[in-house]
Amino acid sequence: MTETLLKSPPQPELLLRVAERVGTPTYVYFADVIRERIRLLRERTARIDARLLYAMKANGHPAVLSIMKEENLGIDAVSPAELLLALRVGFDPDRILFSANNMTDDEMEFAHRQGVLLNVGELSRLERYGRAHPGSRVCVRVNPRIGAGHHDHVITAGPDSKFGIPVEAAAEILRIVERHGLRLVGLHQHIGSGIMDTGTLWSAIRVILEAAKHFPPVEFINLGGGLGVPYRPGEAGLDFENFDTRVVEPLDEFLTGDASRPAVWFEPGRFLTAECGVLLVRVNTVKANPERTFAGVDSGMTHLLRPALYGSYHAVSNLSNPDGDPVPYDIVGNICETGDRFARDRAVQEIREGDVLAILDTGAYGMSMASPSYNLRPVPAEVLVPGESDPGRFRVIGRRQTAAELVADVLGRAESRRD
Ligand code: LLP
Repeated sequence: MTETLLKSPPQPELLLRVAERVGTPTYVYFADVIRERIRLLRERTARIDARLLYAMKANGHPAVLSIMKEENLGIDAVSPAELLLALRVGFDPDRILFSANNMTDDEMEFAHRQGVLLNVGELSRLERYGRAHPGSRVCVRVNPRIGAGHHDHVITAGPDSKFGIPVEAAAEILRIVERHGLRLVGLHQHIGSGIMDTGTLWSAIRVILEAAKHFPPVEFINLGGGLGVPYRPGEAGLDFENFDTRVVEPLDEFLTGDASRPAVWFEPGRFLTAECGVLLVRVNTVKANPERTFAGVDSGMTHLLRPALYGSYHAVSNLSNPDGDPVPYDIVGNICETGDRFARDRAVQEIREGDVLAILDTGAYGMSMASPSYNLRPVPAEVLVPGESDPGRFRVIGRRQTAAELVADVLGRAESRRD
């Protein structure tokens, strides 16, 4: 059935101006939205004075990272390149947690040399780290055996998950820690992404809090990210109004009984950046077959993978015809796959060729999952709207590559492989 509720885009006139001046496809990020989400999360966690890290995999643009730095967040980095980028943007090593999974020896060595804390989620890796760097500080990622998320692919705890050390293995963790004189300063878990229910979140948090009793006192417990956001019109997102009573208050109570009370860390990605972003695309082709009408745009799954990979919903709005009557469309991209579809049977204000569409809530896991390789299409340009600090203005923060530049990259890489 076609949904008829529409979601409104932020600042439509400005978005149209961006589309005219910068062209399409273009990701636009509203800095004020990021700052507002940080403020909201800080407010909600004030009682426990939680420390916030940003999971940069959600959107690692240096301009976005700079906002996080200005707002005094730390960083969750999951690869050597993410770590390097965070350092280059100016984050202090002691504000970065290195959480790569299935690290190689070289990756561990690299992160160790940068002076960042390693978050290790495998017993054998912990053993190797201890052997290589006895006496080091270390954080251990546990699997609390409860997972959650918007799709099976993003549930990162529980019996099917590759992440973390089963929470029951405390004794083995301790044996390794003692054997190498490691200093276990933190316990970590991240149970999944796009969690909508504070009840599940709290159940998993309880598990790690209970598990912590089996370890000598740690400096912090990192509860990961995962806080869901509303993508559909009228959707509530994480039941954030219950976050105080269902998560923060019980956490506070639990920790109050703990003489060596550890700090609490969260490391969200999506919650801070999803709603700051819009992907602007232009409709090139409208065509119909007896069953459906297709609006074909100048972008595709290689620019925004979430709908093809998870069946994710992103609201679409026709900026060029905001008062048009809603008509059902399949909004499809220019990649040679039938799954290259942003929306199916979706009511959008009547679409004409040349119209500019806004695909909403694409600030997290949009550009960061984009790639120019498949079908060789350059990734979108990127624009930042600074907001209050520079009202009504925007800045191009990512130039669109031309087809010729992309081909030069491909040839350049092929060249260096010759010997
Ligand atoms: N911490 C760790 C260790 C993580 O692996 C992740 C995300 C986060 C924090 C941040 O999770 P968030 O707060 O953003 O939910 N590509 C998927 C999401 C995959 C998330 C993977 N890990 C999507 O587009 O829905």
